[in-house]
Amino acid sequence: MVRIVRATQAEIDEAVTALRDGELVAFPTETVYGLGANAQNPAAVQKVFEAKGRPTSHPVIVHIDSPKYLHRWVREVPDVAQALAARFWPGPLTLVLPRNPNVHDIITGGQDTIAVRVPAHPMAQQLLTAFGGGIAAPSANRYGRISPTRAEHVREEFGQAIRVVLDGGESQVGLESTIVACGPAGTRLLRPGAVTLAQLRQVAGEVLVGSADAVPRVPGSTPSHYAPATPMTIVPADEIDTRAEDASEGGRRIAVLAQRLPLKTYTSVTWINAGRRADAYAHDLYANLRTLDKAGCEQIFVQEVPGDDKWDAIRDRLLRGAAASEVENAEFPAAGALGAMP
Ligand code: TXA
Ligand code: MG
Repeated sequence: MVRIVRATQAEIDEAVTALRDGELVAFPTETVYGLGANAQNPAAVQKVFEAKGRPTSHPVIVHIDSPKYLHRWVREVPDVAQALAARFWPGPLTLVLPRNPNVHDIITGGQDTIAVRVPAHPMAQQLLTAFGGGIAAPSANRYGRISPTRAEHVREEFGQAIRVVLDGGESQVGLESTIVACGPAGTRLLRPGAVTLAQLRQVAGEVLVGSADAVPRVPGSTPSHYAPATPMTIVPADEIDTRAEDASEGGRRIAVLAQRLPLKTYTSVTWINAGRRADAYAHDLYANLRTLDKAGCEQIFVQEVPGDDKWDAIRDRLLRGAAASEVENAEFPAAGALGAMP
């Protein structure tokens, strides 16, 4: 695994200058790369939405380097949030809390809450400390697409449109942060991530799952997320070989994301064995999906992952990716792609 943990002073200076000038900076975190702007400059945050093609109704996470700066962004910190922050920050946890009234509406989508996170990646910490303020940052991908876990993924998404991209190597976790809302509707898990429901409950007691709000405030909760461009289907573990073999008949190119080796060699199948360990699978998931997406295949088959809670976040992203390709295929039937499937 490639790990580059510190940026040079010149790189940090360039990034801080860009942020102060209202420009965007892509930076590594331990979950995925973020596309950041000065959270106190609404015009700069607007550029993030434009670059991503993301509707401004979707709020963004403010990244800070220490919980001691929470009060700048948050009106009140419930005890349960205090306990979660003490246990999991810095780390892959985002807390949704009552907003401080002077936070700009573009950050919160005009809601009464704000999402805040203290990332653990040393380079993110280095940047935040040098900048001295909050950085508003969604994942550094175009709206609805796969999050980047390497600097080169950010380049693939945005080319030269983002001038400053800090390269911190491969994101260690590989999936977006766990999001938890603490408020009058109780403590609620809004998005599963590396911090599991069981871990949250150990600290917070009762944790409900899902939003109390009918409005989808978490874009990842709409199906058009985490999706490769190639149609993706989840297949039971014991069917993965036959499905791949049948679909690849006549030389049709098929991609497989499995957790073991194929039973035999299939000539037109691109097969990735992502292994049986949840943390390693998560670390590689988005890079693997990008690789398979670029392999020129008609279909991606993903072996269904195990049912235990270590796999919750992975299962969530895979289900959304597969649901998004169903929607896209229903709207724009890809000739031959799904038609020949059983
Ligand atoms: O790991 C991560 O969380 C990465 C890294 C860069 O920190 N960021 C990330 O940002 O995944 P994004 O924008 O792709 O996803 C953040 C999610 C969005 O689904 C957004 O709707 C939700 O957080 N969110 C932000 N503010 C919120 C709020 N006030 N209430 C509920 N959800 C909120
Ligand atoms: Mg995102």
